[in-house]
Amino acid sequence: MPLEAQTLFIDGAWTSAASAAALDVRSPTDGETFTAISRGDSADIERAVDAARRALQGAWATMAGFERGRIMTNLSNLILANAEEIAQIEARDTGKPITQARTDIRATARYFEFYAGAADKILGDVLPFLDGYQVTVQREPRGVCGLIIPWNYPASMFGRTVAPALATGNTVVLKPAEDASMSCIRLAALAHEAGLPAGVLNLVTGLGEEAGAALSQHPDVDFLSFTGSPEVGTLIQTAAARNHVPCVLELGGKSPQIVFDDADFEHAAQTIIGVITQNAGQTCSAGSRVLIQRSAYDRFIAMLKERMSAVRVGAPAADLQCGPVINSTQAKKVQGFLDRARADGIEVIAQGALDGSAVKTGYFVLPTLFGPVPTTHELAQEEVFGPVLAAIPFEDEAEAIRIANGTAYGLVAGLWTENGARQMRVAKKLRVGQVFINNYGAGGGIELPFGGVKRSGHGREKGLEALKEYTVAKTIVLRHD
Ligand code: NAI
Ligand code: MG
Repeated sequence: MPLEAQTLFIDGAWTSAASAAALDVRSPTDGETFTAISRGDSADIERAVDAARRALQGAWATMAGFERGRIMTNLSNLILANAEEIAQIEARDTGKPITQARTDIRATARYFEFYAGAADKILGDVLPFLDGYQVTVQREPRGVCGLIIPWNYPASMFGRTVAPALATGNTVVLKPAEDASMSCIRLAALAHEAGLPAGVLNLVTGLGEEAGAALSQHPDVDFLSFTGSPEVGTLIQTAAARNHVPCVLELGGKSPQIVFDDADFEHAAQTIIGVITQNAGQTCSAGSRVLIQRSAYDRFIAMLKERMSAVRVGAPAADLQCGPVINSTQAKKVQGFLDRARADGIEVIAQGALDGSAVKTGYFVLPTLFGPVPTTHELAQEEVFGPVLAAIPFEDEAEAIRIANGTAYGLVAGLWTENGARQMRVAKKLRVGQVFINNYGAGGGIELPFGGVKRSGHGREKGLEALKEYTVAKTIVLRHD
């Protein structure tokens, strides 16, 4: 493991920032500083991009797909062998309950397992053309990939971006979030141990405005993947446009859970409360609006109320349903939404409660169910990124679809109904990237293509679909007569 504040991994070696600057790392659970990370900036990004560029010419370039896959399989196994240690790192760094952290680390290993199996199956096409010609289309790596990930699921986002990039033969410069870099640092060390050649994976910790901006603007980066806020997403896409490189953006959502009066209420209520309180609501695909058919509104609200009131919030080690949010800024942001909704006269239907393990200096907020929330209110339109659920009644299918599609976002939707024809009819009309029918959970399924439309971003991660993003088609036309 690197020494404190030697958390840049460049060209196969741990190093400090060229400026020697470092950033304190605080625990969301008690607000205390527990370690430091290097404050990488444009000088360090320069070194990392240079190493990634050189690695594209080295052993990595001539390595067969199955050999890349073997290294990735090694990494997946190393992650599993060290899973408890990484889960503890993740729980301390992000505040998430330890069971949730363990689930995330298993998902991280799965990403490398899944894409290891794909590394020797990056298939091309043979196209029919004129007589006397042979046309092939092959998928080539993009080159140097700049990956900028957020703090909510650091380890699994590492897997989601790094694994498909490596499977397709790219090299990587990863910029983890300043609020949660520790598991990524450990994963980079394991990637080295797994046999990844020097320079193939480089990691630069630091601030978004410094290291992140420098990476996104670097003219020698061939592809960008960003997950985070829509505001920074605009900056990333602007930088990509200036350099004429593609980018994938995953920018969160205001995802609806649509509950019809014929739904399995027990299952729906349990899932909906579980999803919005998981990771303290800091999930891009969190179902933060629950749309309930008016004929079942009171009955279903009573069930949500009972479950939301039972949620307990505390330290990761207490292993409750809900931990703290990531930092004081996020706690204030979420609290602001709660205060304004109350001031606007929206009824608090239910609130969870603090457990004894939730100390005053930690960044805890109370999970809250509001309703009925007018569809124009910010609680029905804006991403809170906290454990806050807005209940909205609807009359019929047409109105449900109108409300579901009536925000700037379009990431995921949950659909709860036993009516088979309605399931498919509504699913087809929702402007989102994923629809879950009688289940919900974008975080699960590594196999499932994921991404949004509208303000939720564009491009697809996860599944075999991601391989298309990380490669570019080359058409070769041969005349042989
Ligand atoms: P952010 O979008 O600023 O941070 C995400 C990543 O982008 C981090 O690695 C950060 O260092 C980097 N970054 C920040 N500014 C950058 C820049 N100018 N150039 C390049 N990279 C940059 O998100 P932040 O400030 O941590 O959270 C603000 C809000 O964003 C949250 O309250 C939440 O609503 C949303 N968010 C959504 C996420 C999602 O999964 N969709 C994840 C994190 C935040
Ligand atoms: Mg920010």
